[in-house]
Amino acid sequence: MRKPVIAGNWKMYKLLDEAVQTALALKPLVANANHCDVIIAPVFTALKTVADRLEGSNLRVSGQDCSTQSDFGAHTGEVTAGMLKDVGCQYVIIAHSERRQFYAETDESANRKVRAALVAGIRPIYCIGELLSEREAGRAESVVETQLNGGLQGLTPADMERIIIAYEPVWAIGTGKTATPEQAQEMHGYIRHKVEESHGKSVADSMRILYGGSVKPENIAELMAQPDVDGALVGGASLEADSFSKIVNYK
Ligand code: PGA
Repeated sequence: MRKPVIAGNWKMYKLLDEAVQTALALKPLVANANHCDVIIAPVFTALKTVADRLEGSNLRVSGQDCSTQSDFGAHTGEVTAGMLKDVGCQYVIIAHSERRQFYAETDESANRKVRAALVAGIRPIYCIGELLSEREAGRAESVVETQLNGGLQGLTPADMERIIIAYEPVWAIGTGKTATPEQAQEMHGYIRHKVEESHGKSVADSMRILYGGSVKPENIAELMAQPDVDGALVGGASLEADSFSKIVNYK
């Protein structure tokens, strides 16, 4: 059985005080959520304080990106995966579509970041997903396959066991337009099939594949009812403790 993951991506929101307040408000609301792993991803500047304040709780903290570089060096503006681990992160989101669209993330750079995270001992949440134009052109599956192969290239089955995949159709992110449960299931099933082809059945069977894109308290249950949807990566609805806790407690 795959343990579901509900992850909140706070993007570039919240000053430190508000980040701490939201995290502390969330803590009791999800304290009994033993059915899933609960993760929040605040901005870099809030990670250490939030992680410290959540110590001993069932909430885990994630970075939103990391450097392709593992070692210290002259890379102004970059943060290594090891630095994320150092301040209490157990996960890092890699290749979110906003990074692909606006910050020149490629499958190749994503692959280097995934490897850097694995070297550092934190779990990558690797994001993939097609644009609306690609879906309309009938290319959704081939786009996702290319991102999957590129970002996860060269990884061993043991590496793959530490990875979480997030399928986030770009047309559903921040638009209020969620993929239907059927659309999500179709793509998640496809992704699992591709992982089975590349890394074998046992890796595919244990791989957690999250859906992302306008997930809300109102639609989480029907998404989670799909056999290949193992959780959610939530943006807007993760910013408030109340709505995020309702998503976590979807059962
Ligand atoms: P959304 O964002 O839930 O606001 O659509 C999801 C994401 O970008 O991870």
